[in-house]
Amino acid sequence: MNGNEAAGAGPDGDCCILAVETSCDETSAAVIKNGREVLSNVISSQIDTHRAFGGVVPEVASRKHVEVITLIMEEALEKAGIAPSDLSAIAVTQGPGLVGALLVGVVAAKSMAFALDKPLIATHHIAGHIYANRLVKELQYPCMALVVSGGHTELVLMEREGSFKLIGRTRDDAVGEAYDKVARAIGYPYPGGPFVDKAALESPTAEELPRVWLEPDSYDFSFSGLKSAVLNLVNRSKMKGELPDYGAIARGFQESVIEVLVEKAIRAVRATSARQLLLCGGVAANRGLRAALTERCEREGVELIIPPHAYCTDNAAMIGAAAYLKWQSGEFADLSLKADPGLSLEAWSVK
Ligand code: KG4
Ligand code: ZN
Repeated sequence: MNGNEAAGAGPDGDCCILAVETSCDETSAAVIKNGREVLSNVISSQIDTHRAFGGVVPEVASRKHVEVITLIMEEALEKAGIAPSDLSAIAVTQGPGLVGALLVGVVAAKSMAFALDKPLIATHHIAGHIYANRLVKELQYPCMALVVSGGHTELVLMEREGSFKLIGRTRDDAVGEAYDKVARAIGYPYPGGPFVDKAALESPTAEELPRVWLEPDSYDFSFSGLKSAVLNLVNRSKMKGELPDYGAIARGFQESVIEVLVEKAIRAVRATSARQLLLCGGVAANRGLRAALTERCEREGVELIIPPHAYCTDNAAMIGAAAYLKWQSGEFADLSLKADPGLSLEAWSVK
């Protein structure tokens, strides 16, 4: 069966995909029409549960997904006003992510696809973050994506639709992870990224902290040295019996992160003649990063796309947007599909 003749395409030829996302601590289901139009996007966050532990506890995440997944899928269909029989396909995040958490979504999507006799689409979480941008604007190729999330920091070149080439990645901590660890040292609750962002923007002064560029021609990132420099500053102040200037530390940390991200992204855009720069992932919600990238892109004449906040953090609408690529190419999964916590983005490229 290929995309065009798949069962369940709407009477007017529209493609309506029910997408499911459970890779980390958000249980989400969405209905997406033709890869661009969000008919519903229901998100149930577990953050309040995990906050007590200072981070995501994988076993707890899986259990919470199991508790709500059916309700969330039902709600997504109800809000979209679409009968299950009118769906074109069921899509699910196959990876990367927490294996137990992914498994819940994969089993739920497989069951639904089997019961309704609809095609199943295995989707890549980062392809989802990237294609969240298509919910905002039409993409023009080649384009460059700067992916900044709790688990990933990557520069991804797309030479054509659905083709992903990793040209840079973090060699240690992901940027969101570094934010959360710095936040923890300051004493903010999990996830601390937004608190560091706020403190940085409100502080009148900044600590001088290092910028890690790696080799001159490298598009890779490294944030663990910066994170350690922050922890050392905090500990040194405490040992001297002084109260650390947390605002200045947050601002110094944020300035270092932003300068490196913006510089490398712009350099990558120039080197590949990319026509657009797409910002995506949870850290794309960072106000300092959005402002700095917007200002720099305006100055350089580079078109920048940033999805609204709700499509930056984990959600199923973005999974439906990416799944549409595989609908068009007719690449479907079968019921032997397994969650893959290490799924490769390049290998997921459309054939
Ligand atoms: O994409 P996401 O929702 O989950 C992953 O796939 O990882 O990203 C979550 C990450 C967390 O580390 C969180 O602290 C960070 O995004 N984050 C922020 C901001 N909002 C969320 N980091 C910096 N500034 C923010 N405003
Ligand atoms: Zn994510």
